Amino acid sequence: VDGELYYVRNDIVNHYALSFNLLVPSEINSLYFTWHAKSKVEYKLGFQIDNPVAMDPPQANISLQGEVPRSRSVFQVDLFCTGKIDFEITLTMQLNLTLNSSKNITVLNFKRRKMCFKRLEQEAKQPGYQGKNNTFSSPCLHLDPINAPPTTSTRVFYISVGVCCAVIFLVAIILAVLHLHSMKRVELDDSMSDSGSSQGLSQPSTQTTQYLRADTPNNATPVTSSSGYPSLRIEKNDLKSVTLLEAKAKVKDIAISRERVTLKDVLQEGTFGRIFHGFLVDEKDPSKEKQVFVKAVKDTLDHASEVQVTMMLTESCKLRGLHHRNLLPISHVCIEDGEKPMVLLPYLNWGNLKLFLRQCKLAEANNPQQAISQQDLVHMAIQIACGMSYLARREVIHKDLAARNCVIDDTLQVKITDNALSRDLFPMDYHCLGDNENRPVRWMALESLVNNDFSSPSDVWAFGVTLWELMTLGQTPYVDIDPFEMAAYLKDGYRIAQPINCPDELFAVMACCWALDPEERPKFQQLVQCLTEFHAALGAYV
Ligand SMILES: *[C@@H]1O[C@H](CO)[C@@H](O)[C@H](O)[C@H]1NC(C)=O
Ligand SMILES: *[C@@H]1O[C@H](CO)[C@@H](O)[C@H](O)[C@H]1NC(C)=O
Ligand SMILES: *[C@@H]1O[C@H](CO)[C@@H](O)[C@H](O)[C@H]1NC(C)=O
Repeated sequence: VDGELYYVRNDIVNHYALSFNLLVPSEINSLYFTWHAKSKVEYKLGFQIDNPVAMDPPQANISLQGEVPRSRSVFQVDLFCTGKIDFEITLTMQLNLTLNSSKNITVLNFKRRKMCFKRLEQEAKQPGYQGKNNTFSSPCLHLDPINAPPTTSTRVFYISVGVCCAVIFLVAIILAVLHLHSMKRVELDDSMSDSGSSQGLSQPSTQTTQYLRADTPNNATPVTSSSGYPSLRIEKNDLKSVTLLEAKAKVKDIAISRERVTLKDVLQEGTFGRIFHGFLVDEKDPSKEKQVFVKAVKDTLDHASEVQVTMMLTESCKLRGLHHRNLLPISHVCIEDGEKPMVLLPYLNWGNLKLFLRQCKLAEANNPQQAISQQDLVHMAIQIACGMSYLARREVIHKDLAARNCVIDDTLQVKITDNALSRDLFPMDYHCLGDNENRPVRWMALESLVNNDFSSPSDVWAFGVTLWELMTLGQTPYVDIDPFEMAAYLKDGYRIAQPINCPDELFAVMACCWALDPEERPKFQQLVQCLTEFHAALGAYV
């Protein structure tokens, strides 16, 4: 995005721009403002911060009272975290302007947020610490790095995103209304004709399984339908009520000292929780440190927060102790008394797969040449299928496979992770169907939705939806279907539409993951094989 965002122009104050409370990345310690006036304008400058323990008063390199320069100039505001505590600072820069010595004052408030982190003693001794450079470069994301001076384009970007969200929201409402009308019509049609008519995208399930057997060259080990998972180990989805103490006791053996962890930027933020980029100091050699994801629940000492912490600890253990190159299990926890518990996982520098795909979509819209290739996307799908195949062999049922629960690095290596905090970080992907449990309804197989049955075949269903997410670069599946209608919609044979540009062969793979009968869905091992052949064929054409 290239453009200019102004706060005041031609005597008009842009209140919309002033209403934003922008987040200052933790490695940025200076803000820059450009200003000039055509006639005599006097100013008074002041700062307010909400926690003087975490941050020293900001310093500007202009005097706190004076006249706005007549030529275009820049002033600088320096922000210094004290390093004494972890805190999200809200700071306000107040600029009072008076025109031609009149008595009327125009008050402008510029709001910023900044994370300040507790510094360890040894870091405080290293003067270069603040300047640690974590450049994040992705081939398909070409936003200017948020650097000083903050280009107006970054602000325009945030505003554009806000406006887009508003527009999308409006469109969603309109679609929802239109959809309600069409649903009524479909119901009417169904009652008049025989069921099973292939309306829309329904595909009789017998046909889908046949597809895989007939069209997939089976020159490797022939897979018979009985050799798969130990005959559908069904799991009921009962979240046992665990107390915080019990949850902490279960992770005691991987607990480490909070002192070894340094938090940097917030990568994702929800209502209750956050994911940070952090550093973990090596136990034996304190000069070495490695990068980690840190999941933490925000600091509110009430019951809701305790429930969130318990859930985070419990769900973080889903992949614990498993070793596979396409899995990312929990590595450590910090559960010291009096500190907020934190969960640590190894770091992958491009972060969350769903957010990555969405960035790719944005980048592609701006510059089609930077589009991520179909072959790369299929390669990601193969890696996810490999990880899931390992889980199935170990009889572990994931129950929440989706792009949001995968991470990716700059070599396009993808790893499946647990769903701790996902409900909070991706609230649009989860729905309560009348009870208190938030479920990933749009990723769930019919038997899971209706009977709470989870099994490897229901993970295969979710894999099909994840494959669809890859091919659509992070779109929401069944976006125009009411979550309450999902079960009926699936029962009637409807499925998600074939994405534009998605080859028929690949869509057929997704479609067989969505067979109504769990036994008819392919096994992960078959999916790996089938996608690998498709990947090779794509390579042959390029
Ligand atoms: C700006 O004006 C308001 C209202 O007159 C006053 O309360 C505030 O202290 C002023 N701020 C500065 C920085 O002078
Ligand atoms: C304040 O800092 C900005 C940017 O570093 C510089 O361009 C400007 O000249 C400085 N102003 C004064 C009065 O020192
Ligand atoms: C000051 O504000 C008052 C009321 O808002 C307005 O009537 C008056 O014209 C203003 N004076 C100047 C000099 O702008």
